[in-house]
Amino acid sequence: MKAVVIILGFMLCAVPALGDGVSICYWGAWANYRPELGAYGVSDLPADLCTHLVYSFIGLDGEGNLTLAEEIDVGGKSSYIKDFIKLRETYPKLKLIVAVGGYNEGSADFSKVCNNDTLRAHFVSNLVQFVEESGFDGLDLDWEYPGQREGSQESDKQAFVDLVRDLKEQLGPKGLELLAAVPITQWAVGIGYDVANISKHLDYISLMTYDMHGTWENVTGSNAPLYGQLTDPAGDVLNVVSSFVVLRCF
Ligand SMILES: *[C@@H]1O[C@H](CO)[C@@H](O)[C@H](O)[C@H]1NC(C)=O
Ligand SMILES: *[C@@H]1O[C@H](CO)[C@@H](O)[C@H](O)[C@H]1NC(C)=O
Ligand SMILES: *[C@@H]1O[C@H](CO)[C@@H](O)[C@H](O)[C@H]1NC(C)=O
Ligand SMILES: *[C@@H]1O[C@H](CO)[C@@H](O)[C@H](O)[C@H]1NC(C)=O
Repeated sequence: MKAVVIILGFMLCAVPALGDGVSICYWGAWANYRPELGAYGVSDLPADLCTHLVYSFIGLDGEGNLTLAEEIDVGGKSSYIKDFIKLRETYPKLKLIVAVGGYNEGSADFSKVCNNDTLRAHFVSNLVQFVEESGFDGLDLDWEYPGQREGSQESDKQAFVDLVRDLKEQLGPKGLELLAAVPITQWAVGIGYDVANISKHLDYISLMTYDMHGTWENVTGSNAPLYGQLTDPAGDVLNVVSSFVVLRCF
């Protein structure tokens, strides 16, 4: 693993690049479905601020085939993957990454596919082929989350190691990167992530240090605080600093 990265914000936020650091930016391509002035397409991406730009998301089905969201181009605002890849012409050093999964994808298909050697091999080969043929520089895994949510299984923790290992085996020799985005609570990491083993195969791990708090709670406060606060009903677990502590525990 080259580094652990913090994602500060969801739609598109980045850690400042320091020295040879990285700045991994995510684009939720569905932002381009917004009406009129709200539409946010490829041409809006501040690619000069990023070392990695992640197109999110592609999905999968229960057989390990990939699913793609509808691509649209309205008034020059495009969510076409081919336009995303064209950013390389202007930013030759930028790593263009595709993310598979996301919260709305759920866990069931990942769990079914990754726990079955035949289906996982099919999924891995589809992913590698897609990354190569579309012209991406790598893949970001956003299984949300191994061992959690409907359709998940206890063996997901092992299955995720298998997925990461199998992907790296094929992407590595082609010079393509493998990243993952992971949750930050001790509980979620304990259920789904064999940190030592996945770290062997991943180039970068992004900690999802956003959406720690939200409208599902009864009190107001920072959405993603840097430090724990005495007034936080969740205790000292949902903040950026505690996510580092969690990582060191595994
Ligand atoms: C998945 O892809 C295979 C070919 O690779 C195809 O035979 C199969 O029908 C596809 N499954 C679904 C559910 O689309
Ligand atoms: C794995 O998936 C294949 C293809 O769908 C299926 O034939 C096989 O029974 C599955 N294996 C297990 C152990 O579920
Ligand atoms: C994780 O790594 C340890 C030590 O290398 C190894 O013994 C173990 O089998 C690995 N577990 C998985 C799930 O790959
Ligand atoms: C919010 O308050 C309601 C009513 O008191 C309670 O039922 C619910 O569990 C609370 N939710 C959280 C996340 O604390």
